[in-house]
Amino acid sequence: MSDREPILETRGLRKQFGAVVAAAELDVTFHRGETVGIIGANGAGKTTFVNLVTGYQKPDGGTIRFLGRDITGQGPRHVTKAGLCRSFQIPQVFGSMSVADNLLMAVGIAEIGWLTAGSPLEQPRRRALVEELLATYRMEPYAGHRADLLPQGVRKLLDIAMATARKPALLMLDEPTSGISAVEKYGLMDIIMAALRAQQVTIHFIEHDMEIVGRYAERVLAFAAGDVIADGPPARVLHDPRVQELVIGRHEAARGVLNHAAPPAESGS
Ligand SMILES: Nc1ncnc2c1ncn2[C@@H]1O[C@H](COP(=O)(O)OP(=O)(O)OP(=O)(O)O)[C@@H](O)[C@H]1O
Ligand SMILES: [Mg+2]
Repeated sequence: MSDREPILETRGLRKQFGAVVAAAELDVTFHRGETVGIIGANGAGKTTFVNLVTGYQKPDGGTIRFLGRDITGQGPRHVTKAGLCRSFQIPQVFGSMSVADNLLMAVGIAEIGWLTAGSPLEQPRRRALVEELLATYRMEPYAGHRADLLPQGVRKLLDIAMATARKPALLMLDEPTSGISAVEKYGLMDIIMAALRAQQVTIHFIEHDMEIVGRYAERVLAFAAGDVIADGPPARVLHDPRVQELVIGRHEAARGVLNHAAPPAESGS
């Protein structure tokens, strides 16, 4: 994938909370169009990495470049505007509003900011964008439903659809399938991946389910104690002995959950 344009580059990225090293001098380069799965045990530093590059936390050291621009130390509003967006472990939706109104709000905020996003002067164009998002994320049947009464999977879709209202170049998803039953995860991931690819958004996703990682990621980044301990195609990373010990656990590895890891995807170019 190294022939592709770099989209995100960190050099010496550091973050510490007291004695806990949450990001240990991270040097990583990601490319446009590369679907990256981020794995690691609880507390390994996955969310911290996303928080640092999206501006939700300030690094103690190091640099972050996004699409060739230095964004080190910039806050979430600037980073989002530059085209790097994220979703959260817990979906961030307006519970008392309908799905369609949540999307309308997101589209409005993306265009003009918080204060006037709910203005009654909503142009038909914004409604058309909402219709497009409803279709892309297969949420038409839920358009009029209150967000806090949605099935968890649909709430996740809504959260992700809202995060794409700004048309990001890169979207980082923090555990898109958490709280979703094993049988529903694949359907949900299929919709998310197809939608984001149709929107030409590069996807990074944090995931604990190794079958999902093996199925959807073409590159896997494994974290342990704030450091990247393996980085490469899923077939290699998921079978790495250190990853099996520190991330997956012997029990799961022995159970054979890795048999589904897809072979490395070809770039085709
Ligand atoms: N705001 C904070 N204050 C203090 N410690 C923090 C803070 N955020 C994270 N940490 C610590 O940094 C380490 C990395 O946390 P992080 O949330 O990045 O882990 P994670 O890999 O996302 O884990 P999980 O799979 O549980 O979501 C942990 O030891 C965590 O307790
Ligand atoms: Mg986390």
